[in-house]
Amino acid sequence: MPDISPITRVVVPGPTPDLSPDLSLVVSRPMSWDAIPGTMLPMSAASTPDPTLRPDIDWFDWHAPYGDPGSELSRRLQVVQGHIRRALSERAPGPIRVVSLCAGQGLDLIGVLADHPRRSDVSARLVELDPRNVAIAREGVAATGLSSVEVVAGDAAVTDAYAGAVPADLVLCCGVFGNVSDEDIAHTVATLPQLCAPDAVVVWTRHRAAPDATPQIRAWFADAGFEERGFDSGTPGVDGESFGVGCHVLRATPSPLRTGVRMFRFVRPGRARHLT
Ligand SMILES: C[S@@+](CC[C@H](N)C(=O)[O-])C[C@H]1O[C@@H](n2cnc3c(N)ncnc32)[C@H](O)[C@@H]1O
Repeated sequence: MPDISPITRVVVPGPTPDLSPDLSLVVSRPMSWDAIPGTMLPMSAASTPDPTLRPDIDWFDWHAPYGDPGSELSRRLQVVQGHIRRALSERAPGPIRVVSLCAGQGLDLIGVLADHPRRSDVSARLVELDPRNVAIAREGVAATGLSSVEVVAGDAAVTDAYAGAVPADLVLCCGVFGNVSDEDIAHTVATLPQLCAPDAVVVWTRHRAAPDATPQIRAWFADAGFEERGFDSGTPGVDGESFGVGCHVLRATPSPLRTGVRMFRFVRPGRARHLT
């Protein structure tokens, strides 16, 4: 288990041993989620996870490079957290709502909230499918004393996951666009205004391996009524395939949430990418 505390300032213990270590088993038998205490999304036909959920990648192991402060993933995390910090700091006084799609272990948001002056204003919903990551995120939330952050075990791709948690002031969509088709990226970006409050900030990531999809993704954000606040990349040659981190602010009028809509499906890209 990597020591992630230098990056996130959250003490994260190892995985809960009685949870299935095999995400593909969980996906094919979602009732095994009953083993996880805490909030779960109701399983319906619309929200049943797609069985093509990239069984080529172990989504618990994927987080291991966060334990190395010099890793590409850790450098990406620093950029993401910078945008989160700024978004929280700039929000008008009062409650701040946050949602995180495919939240993983929640390191980005939990790490910022550990010492952010607005932490008591924040209520958040993190949605993640892998029960081992859910357990770690919940442990991070508890260790950080964040009573208004819930970690939901469920399918983040379906808009139902956000009922009651949106419109959000900050939407995190990190580690998603590298795992889904271009059509699904476009559809997701077009749907994001349904999750957003006025002037909401969206932070997203995508690797920049050829063919680099980030110029098109940024164009889709513009089409959906977002203004670009920032776009940062890793250093080619230093950061392997090089990460991309985008930050966009919704300038168009937000749309009401329509439940029952699937935004994306994780797909196999042909080879496992480390950075997504
Ligand atoms: C590339 S990781 C990103 C994790 C985190 N957002 C980060 O950037 O550190 C993708 C995560 O999405 C989760 N995941 C995949 N499909 C999902 C779905 N349909 N709903 C919720 N989580 C999903 C995986 O279990 C994995 O933890």
